[in-house]
Amino acid sequence: MGVKTLPSRVHRTHPGVLAAALALILLGLWCARDLLYESYTLVALPFFWKRHARSFYLSAAHDGFDVTFANYSATQTSAAPFPDLVPPVLHHISLGSGAATHSKWTEVRQSCLDAHPGWDAFLWTDETADALVAEHFPALRDMWMAYRFPIQKIDALRYMVLYHYGGVVLDMDLQCKRAFGPLRRFEFVAPAAHPTGFSIGFMMASKGNEYVGRLVDSLRRYNRHWLGLPYPTVMFSTGCHYASTIHAFHPNRTSLKILAGPRSQPRMHNLNGPVSTPLFNHLGSSSWHSYDAAMIVGLGKHHGRKLPIVFGVGVAVGFLVIRRVRRRRG
Ligand SMILES: *[C@@H]1O[C@H](CO)[C@@H](O)[C@H](O)[C@H]1NC(C)=O
Repeated sequence: MGVKTLPSRVHRTHPGVLAAALALILLGLWCARDLLYESYTLVALPFFWKRHARSFYLSAAHDGFDVTFANYSATQTSAAPFPDLVPPVLHHISLGSGAATHSKWTEVRQSCLDAHPGWDAFLWTDETADALVAEHFPALRDMWMAYRFPIQKIDALRYMVLYHYGGVVLDMDLQCKRAFGPLRRFEFVAPAAHPTGFSIGFMMASKGNEYVGRLVDSLRRYNRHWLGLPYPTVMFSTGCHYASTIHAFHPNRTSLKILAGPRSQPRMHNLNGPVSTPLFNHLGSSSWHSYDAAMIVGLGKHHGRKLPIVFGVGVAVGFLVIRRVRRRRG
């Protein structure tokens, strides 16, 4: 028996073919550059969030601020002697469900109005929200109307009212325990979330704030059906992950303050689930108006019909790739 020589399967590939393939790949990358950049920023958030954290996490050392609020009067509605950068305006958003008229939420909201006597107070409903978007953000109106999930409309509206009026945006299930005066000296404040980013259920900002403007302006770029799945779509297009990503990639985050507890109790201001913080009683996910519940309810209406398809295609592609690689090696 002679030694068998394997038939040579090595074909010389014409350099022109290689060049064309390379050009195609580059063209593809170029066409997908926005998607690639946005995906990169969203995925990179956990790695970038804490960069320069000392400059924007509120603290006694850096800002002379008492994050426990123990040293501030519960009725302090101004930052005096510091200038008030945040105007005296409260915003609540109640789209769709008719919760605006539900007595429980009226009472919870009233606690915040009572803590801030004399402040302007907006309760944004379907009609007033639509009018605001049409009048002041006409370029975004079609997109805003077409959002697939109700919570996306609410989230986008938070940034728009905050940009246009400034003030404080509050979820309907936040019962106020004290006035926000001490925080008004900062041009932007939001409570830390765990493990990264911040919650958008409570935000304070100056009118026409540059960062909040970025949140409004970037809505269109990030408006994708991320992975074809409801949860990432909401979080990445308008939700906390979106806002935190824009924060993380802001060139100067110094004045975009994040409110967290002292080192001994870093989660003091987190608004996950039913909790009591120095500022709020968060009535939490038993209610439609908690952020989590609103999202689940909202998503439930559009239960992910695409999910099995995306998953199936993913598994199939993975399987084919692995088989190919194995065959080549074999
Ligand atoms: C960032 O902003 C702060 C004020 O918000 C300013 O004092 C600081 O100089 C800025 N840093 C840079 C690098 O521009």
